[in-house]
Amino acid sequence: MTGRRVAIIGAGAVGASAAYALALSGTCHEIILYDIVPDIAIGKAIDIAQATNYSPRGTIVKAAIKPEEIKNCDVVVITAGVPRRKEMTRADLLNINAGIVKEVSENIKKYSPDATILCVSNPLDVMTYVVQKITGWDRHRIVGMSGALDGSRMAYQIYQKTGFGAAQTRAIVIGEHGEHMIPYPEITNVGGIPLTQLLSKEDIEEIVEKTKNGGAEIVKHLKTSAFYAPGRAISAMIESILSDEDKVISSCAILDGEYGYKDVAIGVPCVLGSTGIKKIIELDLDEKTKKKFDEAVKAIKENIAILEDGGFFDK
Ligand SMILES: NC(=O)c1ccc[n+]([C@@H]2O[C@H](COP(=O)([O-])OP(=O)(O)OC[C@H]3O[C@@H](n4cnc5c(N)ncnc54)[C@H](O)[C@@H]3O)[C@@H](O)[C@H]2O)c1
Repeated sequence: MTGRRVAIIGAGAVGASAAYALALSGTCHEIILYDIVPDIAIGKAIDIAQATNYSPRGTIVKAAIKPEEIKNCDVVVITAGVPRRKEMTRADLLNINAGIVKEVSENIKKYSPDATILCVSNPLDVMTYVVQKITGWDRHRIVGMSGALDGSRMAYQIYQKTGFGAAQTRAIVIGEHGEHMIPYPEITNVGGIPLTQLLSKEDIEEIVEKTKNGGAEIVKHLKTSAFYAPGRAISAMIESILSDEDKVISSCAILDGEYGYKDVAIGVPCVLGSTGIKKIIELDLDEKTKKKFDEAVKAIKENIAILEDGGFFDK
């Protein structure tokens, strides 16, 4: 089998978990791990490669020591960066991670010019925007991972309330991957049944709050951010892209007129297939949600402006 070559830049907790989830499913022909610290990439590649012995389909897992070894990949995942620690907000990570994402994007552009890029580094929406600006690629080839994880966190909270329908929940989260996240209970369902018909208003409000704090809750216990659920969310997105499944997955996309906005990256429902984002689905937002969406765009644009004002895109 040719093709299906995936590189993961940043072999830390999230990058390695994504590689592990992909290796277990046999989705890829080849997974290449790269990290600025070569021993991390080498050690994790060996460990994950040895786990594939029991997979349904073989996957080659190897480490790249130099960026030029990330050649001709179909999908490149960016998980390089500094994780959020308890005392940090995602915005605190802005300047450090923007520099890292810029360097990584320049290498992807050079060595994997036909790839779809899946950005994971935080603050996610701004970093996805940075990838597009640095590569200059068609916006549909740049996808950010946000709603895939936030939706699975919302589904978890729903199960905590209902006690049924665990893997049947389709929870939609749009907006910023951060404080301005918008869990959308009105269009969420459990086995096709609208959430609003299953739970009380109070229960739903609690679910929304817990979903928004889903990342922080894990940081509180682990003193570091989550990795298993992010890794699985990344692998689900890659499966849809590599297998051209055209699944609808909330993802961070660069808007060009959709939802009334341009030149900003934000979470919206997307159809993910072989060419990346094949379609952005424009929801008919109710007034309350539209207001939240506008606030999310404003917050993301403010962060982009911090980079612009510091001359980040001119260097
Ligand atoms: N989008 C999401 O939903 C989501 C979820 C969880 C984590 N994250 C983000 O993902 C990123 C990774 O998180 P983590 O927990 O795996 O962190 P981590 O510290 O475990 O791993 C990051 C890795 O990146 C490497 N790295 C740093 N600079 C690099 C460079 N220039 N080139 C290559 N590798 C480099 C580090 O050596 C490290 O191994 C963070 O920015 C985190 O905030 C996003």
